Amino acid sequence: MAKQGNVTVAPADGKLGILIPGMGAVTSTFIAGVEAVKRGLGQPVGSLTQLGTIRLGKRTDARTPRIKDFVPLAPLDCLVFGGWDIYEDNAYEAAVRAQVLEGPLLDQLKEPLSAIRPMKAVFNPNYVKRIDGPNVKTGSNNMDLAQALMQDIQDFKKTNGCNRLVMIWCGSTEVFRKPAPVHDNLAAFEEGLRTNDPNISPSQIYAYAALRLRVPFANGAPNLTTDVPALLELAREHAVPICGKDFKTGQTFLKTLLAPGFKARMLGVRGWFSTNILGNRDGQVLEDPDSFKTKEETKLSVLEQILQPDLYPNLYKDLYHAVRINYYPPRGDAKEGWDNIDIFGWLGYPMQIKIDFLCRDSILAAPLVLDLVLFLDLAQRAGMKGIQEWLSFYFKGPMTAPGLYPEHDIFIQLMKLKNTLRWMQGEDLITHLGLEYYD
Ligand SMILES: NC(=O)c1ccc[n+]([C@@H]2O[C@H](COP(=O)([O-])OP(=O)(O)OC[C@H]3O[C@@H](n4cnc5c(N)ncnc54)[C@H](O)[C@@H]3O)[C@@H](O)[C@H]2O)c1
Repeated sequence: MAKQGNVTVAPADGKLGILIPGMGAVTSTFIAGVEAVKRGLGQPVGSLTQLGTIRLGKRTDARTPRIKDFVPLAPLDCLVFGGWDIYEDNAYEAAVRAQVLEGPLLDQLKEPLSAIRPMKAVFNPNYVKRIDGPNVKTGSNNMDLAQALMQDIQDFKKTNGCNRLVMIWCGSTEVFRKPAPVHDNLAAFEEGLRTNDPNISPSQIYAYAALRLRVPFANGAPNLTTDVPALLELAREHAVPICGKDFKTGQTFLKTLLAPGFKARMLGVRGWFSTNILGNRDGQVLEDPDSFKTKEETKLSVLEQILQPDLYPNLYKDLYHAVRINYYPPRGDAKEGWDNIDIFGWLGYPMQIKIDFLCRDSILAAPLVLDLVLFLDLAQRAGMKGIQEWLSFYFKGPMTAPGLYPEHDIFIQLMKLKNTLRWMQGEDLITHLGLEYYD
């Protein structure tokens, strides 16, 4: 183990197992994409770990390595995939069903994808309502189910000869829940698992199983999951890194590009109306008002926190912000997101901006999954535990220490991420002051 910078980072030796609850559109696009890149059939576009660089030292030093050459990340060849789903489709069948990637590409990847069969899921129809499937575990209580998941994880690690594991939730969005007394501390949570407390969701059972086994956990959906004291306590006690929640991909990604720009120029915003149509299984689940409510919370919180109406009441106090999602099957995974933005400038004169983003949900999400699992694995090898705020860059609702407001501005998030990597490796942090160039 070589001492590197401010932390000691263990090498990325051997295989890294990626365990994914929910093997739908995002997961199958992610796995197929990695297999395609490994075979030279495509480029990992959208992935900071694979394509991004990092400037070190002064601008005149001309030191700009690739991120993957600067910090020791697991190479793509060393990744192994596994997951759980309520449907029995293997990763190839799930990819065909999701209709994100084209048939000729999937045909070339049929062999590795068909070998990835979902393990039986921990599922509760009270938490995800519009779908139901046969591939589900049974047990006398939720602690039994958590133990069955732990057994799956250990079996997977052994069968695949993995040195390390990471878990990332890519399952459906669960219904909206606030933290309950059962989430207050680990003892209450474990008792709640034994007594089937209805406030414990399936995603929390997966997270519990992962954290107990010291497997880092990321949450790609907006569910509460690890955002409760009991699981934060478990992550810290077991020294496991966690992050979440809700991948920042389409419309919210654009929002976090534009809103900081308006604020930087002190332009006012009177209204922001966002609407979406999408026809994938995610859209089907989000048609349920309780699951939509979970999504709406993370989507709405972004503007309030970026624009800071308390600090700028004359620009943002009366902002009307609405987000709608409609399930529209003909579009499949090719989502359309419209934004109408009413802004105002000098002396209050109004202007309008219209955006029509014809995006592809899973194409945008897949590289985020890759970066997150590689960075979480790095964080664990660097001994970093609990909430990894430097990974906020990837999320609509970044997890933060209790009482701390999240940073949503994507450029600040990127600076924080890169400075964390510089800090890990003992490089100077970049402040962008730059006075030294003019001495
Ligand atoms: N694609 C994006 O851009 C994006 C962005 C942000 C968040 N997300 C979130 O990522 C998640 C995955 O999106 P997707 O498009 O792949 O959805 P999807 O519906 O295609 O896949 C989700 C899968 O999870 C399975 N599932 C549900 N509950 C489960 C459980 N308890 N255990 C195991 N499997 C379970 C479902 O059967 C389904 O196959 C969703 O929650 C979505 O809201 C996606």
